[in-house]
Formats: sequence, structure tokens, C-alpha cells
Amino acid sequence: MSMSPIRVSDHSSVPRVALAAVDASPQKSLTVSSPVSWPIPDGLRMLNHGSYGIVPRYVRARQAELRELMDADPVHWFKVELEPRADRARAAIAGLLGCDPEGVTFMPNATFGVATVIQSLDLGAGDEIVATDQEYKATLNELERLNKRRGVVIRIAETNAPKVSDEEIVETTMAQVTDRTRLVIMSHIASNSAIVMPAAELSRRCRERGVAVLIDGAHGPGQVGIDLREMAPTYYAASGHKWLCTPKGSGFLYAEAGAREGITPLALSCRTADVRPERASYLSDFDYIGTGDFTPNLVAPDAIAHLSAQDEGGFAGLQRRNHEMVVEGARRIADRCGIALASGVDRFASMVTIILPSRSDGAAGAHYDDPIWDTLIEKWRIQVPVWGLPLTGERVVRVSAHLHNRLGDYDALAEALATELEAERVAGLHG
Ligand SMILES: Cc1ncc(COP(=O)(O)O)c(C=O)c1O
Repeated sequence: MSMSPIRVSDHSSVPRVALAAVDASPQKSLTVSSPVSWPIPDGLRMLNHGSYGIVPRYVRARQAELRELMDADPVHWFKVELEPRADRARAAIAGLLGCDPEGVTFMPNATFGVATVIQSLDLGAGDEIVATDQEYKATLNELERLNKRRGVVIRIAETNAPKVSDEEIVETTMAQVTDRTRLVIMSHIASNSAIVMPAAELSRRCRERGVAVLIDGAHGPGQVGIDLREMAPTYYAASGHKWLCTPKGSGFLYAEAGAREGITPLALSCRTADVRPERASYLSDFDYIGTGDFTPNLVAPDAIAHLSAQDEGGFAGLQRRNHEMVVEGARRIADRCGIALASGVDRFASMVTIILPSRSDGAAGAHYDDPIWDTLIEKWRIQVPVWGLPLTGERVVRVSAHLHNRLGDYDALAEALATELEAERVAGLHG
């Protein structure tokens, strides 16, 4: 029987820029204070740092070293190395966010953090959860499941942010709170609109009412200064891979001292039943949730140190720089295209949304939410999301800034958008 030869690889249909990026070798020459080197291919303008983040080569190198250790002796790694390394990482996270390290457990991402809280609370028929209309789809899915399976009532506060003030957002949310409310959920930075939400004020108001509050901080750490002691939420869930630039599959959950007991992983490991007088189960249960690669969270101290070393002002300076760049960039885009930002610039951190003319055909792109998003990446090599705001569906483009961006990225997007919006207008697509 003759067999056709195996083709080892045929990259002819793979976009050129994607191939140029692949470089998995650990680069030991990179030090913590080296300028950040990003694996972004030449020619790609990355204006969507927010969705998945980008991992600097330095951080990838440190993660590769940890993986080497893990694979050299996995038994030693999982039984001896893991917990002290997790403690080192939680100390770094707690230092950045101003909280008690004992309150920090690691998660693969914010989605897990939010679901862990929702599923850990012992809720049943008649209990209520309040969430704002700005919440991420995964949160809404989790709430819908809770409603279907356990009859928990979900009350959505239609805040209509960012059209309204922070005060109105808080009032509308609190108006949904009743004597049966067991949890209130608000994003720290809303996904689609990118505005910083009034998380501290909401926490204060919930505390006054004696209701637990979960802040979904997926986009918080690394974009804004956070002092969890001051914000004082009951729970704060976050992703590391977005703005802390840790590898994919990193995040954490913070719970205040009185709220840690009863918070259990979505999957219980073989260690869960162990009684450890020297270690709270809140820590040990989450440090090992079955065999897996925990290195994305274990390199958090390296990522934080590397990013902090990039600006004289440390992390705060970096956040300021990113904010200033994205605001200037967004203004240039708005001016060039004759459009407006979705809100005042002081409500944004390192991401800004700009309102686009709506499309009358409501078409989606082949790969992304909006046809223009597809065009921007395929024709202009600009990666930037175009989607709708919650409640109104208003069409926006969300731009971001991190150290890999230059003002030329926003100028390029301004030209591209001006061209493509004009083409839509001529085609009669603007309703
Ligand atoms: C507000 C918010 N929450 C949660 C998530 C989910 O993040 P992850 O995929 O890292 O869990 C996102 C993602 O963009 C988000 O914007």
C-alpha cells in the first residue's frame, strides 16, 4: 500500500506576521530592568491589550525556568516547592493591592474567581443577587445557571453606564438591593465601555446595608492603583494575564478575613480534606487543585518587578504613562474621524472607548463582533475591538495602551477608521 508523504508543515495559508512572532526559547540575558521586549510581530499594531494581555519575553523566560524545575522532578515540585512559591507570589500581589496576603488565593483567571464566589455561597430559592448591566458575559452566564438550578433571583441594575454619573450608577445598583440580597456584583473596569466603575463607593454602601459585594477586577490590577483595604470589598476577583502581563491562566481571588471560610474551589483536590493547623484551608485548597501548571501565577513577582522597573514612578508611573498615551491617542482618532469619546477622559484608565456611527445592517464580522474589526486586522494589521455597549448596543471601538504602544499606532488607526467609516457611509450603511 503506498502512502502519500507526510507534509511536516505547510504554513502557506498562515498570515506572515503570526509566524514571525514565534520564539519560545528562554532568554536568560533579559534582566528585571531590561526594557520590555514583547513577542508582538513587526507590522502588527496591538491596541487590544485588555482582552488577553501580552507576556513580556522576560516573564516568559522566568516561567520557562520554573517549568524546567517542575518537569525535572514533579513530585518534589508539587509536594515541596509549590506552596512556598505560591506564598511568595501572594505576597507580591498583596503588596501591589494593599491587602492581607492570607486573603489571596490563586485562580486561572477572573472568570474562575467570580464563579468560585457565586458557587461557594450557599444560595437557594428566594435568595437574590444584584449585578449591574455592565457585567462580563461569563458572570451573567454563571448567574443564569444559578437561577435555573437553584432558583436564585438575579436582579440586573440597568445603570446605562457610561451615559450617567458614578453617583447614578451606585444609586441604580443599590435600588435593586432588598432584604433578600446576598451578593452585589460590579466590575471594577467595565469590559465593553472601559470606564472605571465606582467600586469603592458601592462597597461602602453595601457594607452599610450589611450585604456582601464582589468586585470583578479582571481589568483592575495593572491599570489602576488599588488599595483593597480602602476599597474594602468582601471579594475581589482579578486576572493577572491582562494588565500584570503574567502568562495566560493567571488570576486571583481576594476575600476579606470574615469571608474566607466556605469559599472552596470549583473542583476539590485530593488535599482538600487534609487538616493543616499551620495553614488555612482557604490557601492550601486553592494552591493545589489537582495536577496542573501553576507557573503563570508563580511568576507574578517577576512580572510586577519587571514592569515596575520600566518607569521611575514604578507601577503607578507606568499606569499614568499608559493613561496619558491612550487618552492622547483616542483624542487623535476622535478628531480625525469627527467622532466622540464615550465619556470624559478621567473615567478611563489604560483603555478608552470611542463611539462609532452605527451600522444599519447590524452585520457581524466573519471572525469578530463587527465587520470593521475584521477589516482592521486583515487589511490594516491593527488589532482593536469594535463592539456594542451594554443596554443600548451603541457601537464603540476600544483602544488600549501599554508599553508596546506608540502614538503612531493611534494615528494609523485614525487613518484606517476614517477610510473604513467613509466606505460604510458611501455604501449607505450608517443608520
Ligand atoms: C470585566 C471582566 N470580567 C471578567 C473577564 C474575564 O477575564 P478572564 O478571561 O481573564 O477570566 C473579562 C475579560 O475581558 C472582563 O472584562
